[in-house]
Amino acid sequence: MIEVRDLRVRYGGRVVADVPELDVREGECVAIVGESGSGKSTTLMSLLGLTPDAEISGHVRVCGVDVLTASPRRLREIRGARVALVMQSPQAALSPATRLGVLMRRALKLHGIGRPAHPRPGPKDGTPPQPAPGKGRLEEIMGEAVEAVMLDREILRRYPHEISGGQAQRFAIALAIALGAEVILADEPTSALDVTVQAEVVGVLRRLREERGLALLLVSHDLALVSTIADRVLVMKDGAVVESGPAARVLAEPSHPYTRELLEALP
Ligand SMILES: Nc1ncnc2c1ncn2[C@@H]1O[C@H](COP(=O)(O)OP(=O)(O)OP(=O)(O)O)[C@@H](O)[C@H]1O
Ligand SMILES: [Mg+2]
Repeated sequence: MIEVRDLRVRYGGRVVADVPELDVREGECVAIVGESGSGKSTTLMSLLGLTPDAEISGHVRVCGVDVLTASPRRLREIRGARVALVMQSPQAALSPATRLGVLMRRALKLHGIGRPAHPRPGPKDGTPPQPAPGKGRLEEIMGEAVEAVMLDREILRRYPHEISGGQAQRFAIALAIALGAEVILADEPTSALDVTVQAEVVGVLRRLREERGLALLLVSHDLALVSTIADRVLVMKDGAVVESGPAARVLAEPSHPYTRELLEALP
């Protein structure tokens, strides 16, 4: 689902992310960990072509699309509908005067979900797609998606400023589910105060991955947390990948001093 080779992102000549290899297959979870400013978010955003001011080189394929050479139109086809981005502060991206339900309905309509002729993407386990949604089906899809991330349906009546950061992230995941996304790119909140929120969001992602076979790429500064969900881990420092490998191995036998430092810093 994601294939990265020799990705290099520069701002004003300075390399802020250098990723030789990064693959995420269906049903797999890969985590990028590292301190603040190490290039985690930049790497994530570049996978959807969302670093407009950067100079980028290398090869990036996401859901079969060659991201670095794709037309804006081709990129729009994968953004949102097939590949969902759960941002670090999703509230900032939500239009403040629009209720969450209205926002979600608009997004679904924009991608043709709820249109009678449009079959809803089926689960990844080979069962046939569900029948085309009719009137009222849209509300049902929205309600189900919100409940899948353990939010109350009532949240759809609220405005973005009336929800917490963790709820906003879960809402973004719900949107991804409703749109039938195959890949979720999630940028965790970095504040130390948000540990319980992070655990909450990771818990939701873990379940979705098991139930729906989603491919997950997760960014966090917390090695212990990602080890509870990730198959593989990339450790970044100052824009470079200093270590990568199976999560269990990296945690048990870190080969780079920086990874050992991260592990020792854990409570
Ligand atoms: N649009 C931009 N223009 C110039 N420099 C940028 C831009 N975006 C990010 N950077 C720089 O790139 C580096 C990596 O930033 P990035 O946001 O990827 O870090 P991060 O690992 O996600 O950190 P955090 O854990 O704090 O979210 C930083 O030094 C940052 O200042
Ligand atoms: Mg970041």
